[in-house]
Amino acid sequence: MGIQKRLVGSYLAVIAITVTILEIFLIFSVKSYYYRNVERVLTSQAELSASFFHQYFDAEDLEKQPERLLEGFAHHSAAQVQIISLTGQLLQDSSGMQVGHVMADYPDVQEARNGDVGIWRGREPSTDESVLAVSYPLLSMDSNVGIVRYVTSLTETKETVDHISELLITVGLIVVAIVTVVGVLLSRTITSSVSDLKIAARKMSEGDFSARAKKRYQDELGTLADTLNAMATKIQRDEALKNEFISSVSHELRTPLTSIKGWAVTLHSNHGEDRSMLEDGLRIIETETDRLTRLVDELLDFSKWDNGLMELYRVPIDLPDFLRKIGKQLAPRAARLNISLEVHVGNALPSIQADANRLKQVLINLIDNALKFTSDNGTVTILARSVEDGVMIIVEDTGSGIAAHDIDHVFQKFYKGNGSGHGSGLGLSISEQIIELHGGSLTIESRIGVGTKAMIHLPVCTKS
Ligand SMILES: Nc1ncnc2c1ncn2[C@@H]1O[C@H](COP(=O)(O)OP(=O)(O)OP(=O)(O)O)[C@@H](O)[C@H]1O
Ligand SMILES: [Mg+2]
Repeated sequence: MGIQKRLVGSYLAVIAITVTILEIFLIFSVKSYYYRNVERVLTSQAELSASFFHQYFDAEDLEKQPERLLEGFAHHSAAQVQIISLTGQLLQDSSGMQVGHVMADYPDVQEARNGDVGIWRGREPSTDESVLAVSYPLLSMDSNVGIVRYVTSLTETKETVDHISELLITVGLIVVAIVTVVGVLLSRTITSSVSDLKIAARKMSEGDFSARAKKRYQDELGTLADTLNAMATKIQRDEALKNEFISSVSHELRTPLTSIKGWAVTLHSNHGEDRSMLEDGLRIIETETDRLTRLVDELLDFSKWDNGLMELYRVPIDLPDFLRKIGKQLAPRAARLNISLEVHVGNALPSIQADANRLKQVLINLIDNALKFTSDNGTVTILARSVEDGVMIIVEDTGSGIAAHDIDHVFQKFYKGNGSGHGSGLGLSISEQIIELHGGSLTIESRIGVGTKAMIHLPVCTKS
């Protein structure tokens, strides 16, 4: 069953039950109100007549001149008035019913004979009409001498009650109808959003990630549409990135392979005659193979990251010592390039928990970049200081700097700025991931022609 049917169905069920209960209650109240009213009027008339009799008549008048009494009793009443003897015989009747009729069977008359007020609602056997009768004992000298009985037909009252009931039922049905229409319209606003979502989701499941869910309202379904669209955008972007990644990888693999293949062919046709050429060729093949190996290692790292398999082996690190060792390791290369490599690290640094090999990989990447893009007589400085919530390690150079339009892209995989021929463009991307895995951040500031500053922020209390 569709959502719309279910929604409308539940609205309807609730409204129908409410309306029915309300109607039953109302109709019952109206009915009892009307009947009670009639009963009250009759009772008060009977009571008035009885007290009138008590004051101005006595037992003799009842037997001798019931006509005169009846005249007095029926004077103000539209109801049928009867005067009945204590034995239950009809003495007088305002509607001309046969005098002498035995009335003792009526429950109200029986009550009045016992001295109580008798009220009876039922069918009058002679006319088969629904009636209400009130019998009141007539007292003379404090003893019961007869009965005055007021009878009224309930047909009219019944008709009024039926009429009101019909009206109430009609109103109830109209309410249910209006609620049904409003319910259908309201539920349509929900179901239309849902079916939009359904269509978009189906397209996406079939691989069409350019499909977008329409957002109609700012509600939960609207949020769901946004989420779905954001997901599709991300998948599209990832797809594009994946394709780009594959083509970059193929391209990166091709360059060293071409060179290896070229040298292999050259050396093969040379038959080992030119010794120096052989050595050159083999050296190039060796470096290119190293480059390939490094590239493949880096790609493996990436796939580990993507699959969430990269794990850190954290150990406490004595940063000053750690940084000085790295500086020492890279000093020969800096000297060869005629660049001064300086390490300025105070000893008052908090100890941090980090994966030493990975952190070293990051620093070598950064220093490698700094050396690569700094010319003769330049300076590369490694600084470390403690900051409020951790430590900051900075690799600063006086090199070429990075153009403003490049700086946003340097962290992308395979991104290489203008004129940087060597390298795969993976260094910063990998470094950033390693630092983020440590809970820190890597940022780069640069001014073209002035130099570049790579800053690693690592929190002290690093939990993995
Ligand atoms: N210190 C720097 N000075 C100037 N440009 C830099 C510096 N560091 C990075 N860049 C720019 O950012 C690019 C991306 O750097 P990244 O380290 O990711 O790749 P790469 O050094 O080219 O290759 P790889 O590190 O994989 O060998 C570089 O190609 C270069 O254009
Ligand atoms: Mg690099």
